[in-house]
Amino acid sequence: MELIVVTDPDTLAEAVADRIARAITARPQTVLGVATGSSPLGIYRALAARVAAGLDVSRVQAFALDEYVGLGPDDPQSYAATLQDAFARPLGLRTSALHVPDGTRPDLDQACRDYERAILDAGGVDVQLAGFGANGHLAFNEPGSPADSTTRVVELAERTRADNARFFDRPEQVPHRAITQGIGTILRARSIIAVATGAAKAEAVAAAVSGPIDTACPASFLRLHPDAVVYADPAAASRL
Ligand code: GLP
Repeated sequence: MELIVVTDPDTLAEAVADRIARAITARPQTVLGVATGSSPLGIYRALAARVAAGLDVSRVQAFALDEYVGLGPDDPQSYAATLQDAFARPLGLRTSALHVPDGTRPDLDQACRDYERAILDAGGVDVQLAGFGANGHLAFNEPGSPADSTTRVVELAERTRADNARFFDRPEQVPHRAITQGIGTILRARSIIAVATGAAKAEAVAAAVSGPIDTACPASFLRLHPDAVVYADPAAASRL
């Protein structure tokens, strides 16, 4: 796994947006895997600027990594709404081009199977963007998640709920469960770009890049992928 340390978060966003833009130029029907959280926001802004400057994304499709159970697209805290606002709308993607697991379906296991199938039907993810949870989680694959896991319903770690409480009015509103692509699902992407900024991610980045490859740090499984790169700023890379 390649590690690229860049000077600051803005440089990181521009570098990753360039990489994604090159992939889209080479293959206009690129299937992107998109992540939530604050880490990718600068990348989405930088990509939107490239679209404004002429990058054609009319044939791009995108698949979200995860979604909270119980939150639908009308809920502003849902990942469906977050990704529409931060990613799809600024890039001018049509609504149907963004796929997000449906955490409101009565049969959640069927929703998970349908999501796996939708990714396969689209031809698989070409470029997967991911962040790091402070506890080493990848999407919502918490420590303990196996390398061959697929899309499924998971219980969120209390650390993850606390980390994500800043997006909600009250901490107790953070759902306890989510649908997440599995580690195995994510590793099927043809290429993976993982990004981390800030000292709060330093431990997770160190464990992922140079610790044992095991379930204690799900992001360490990225090292099993033949084309995975980590972009980090100096603070996130400070424990390496
Ligand atoms: C959530 C998402 C993860 C993301 C993480 C990091 O837990 N499910 O996919 O990597 O947040 O968020 P941030 O970038 O805000 O630190």
